[in-house]
Amino acid sequence: MSFDTRHLNQQRMPLDDEATVWLFGYGSLIWKAGFPYHERKPATISGWARRFWQGSHDHRGTPDAPGRVVTLIGAPEALCHGMAYHIDAKTLGPLDHREKNGYVRETVTLYFHDGSHAEGLVYIATEDNAAFLGDAPIETMAEQIHQAHGPSGPNRDYLLNLASALEALGAEDAHVFALADQVRQR
Ligand code: BEZ
Repeated sequence: MSFDTRHLNQQRMPLDDEATVWLFGYGSLIWKAGFPYHERKPATISGWARRFWQGSHDHRGTPDAPGRVVTLIGAPEALCHGMAYHIDAKTLGPLDHREKNGYVRETVTLYFHDGSHAEGLVYIATEDNAAFLGDAPIETMAEQIHQAHGPSGPNRDYLLNLASALEALGAEDAHVFALADQVRQR
């Protein structure tokens, strides 16, 4: 279950190493960067909905018992709230490696809370990648997240940390909050 996107990402979005770029985080990047950055601030993108539809067999699960992590699904009316990082383009190399399990770079407009905006990029796992799981009944997804555990820790910590980080931002996300409620009940 592998679909290594590192080469694809460097080919389809070549960036000068000396450039800087805005990166939109909507998953674990909201609460933990793990890379150097010049600036970090809340941002929103439009036309994308966050969903726990991407399988994780290398971070929050195993090949035999994959976990579920977030990706973005095109949804014209949706807003997705997250965290923007202004980074050196060369910082993307390690990120391409970390997110090599199906995520490709996409260009998006980031809207900041002061009314300004900027072009940036975001990592998205599209439905044609080998680790994509897609939708399932909420109880099924919650049970899978409750059970899964991988090299980066329990899948439920990823979900509950994301829910807490979104609450701290004052951000609404019915999908994440409903899953977090289900997992807390288990
Ligand atoms: C994130 O945390 O925003 C994220 C980073 C890489 C891939 C998918 C999501």
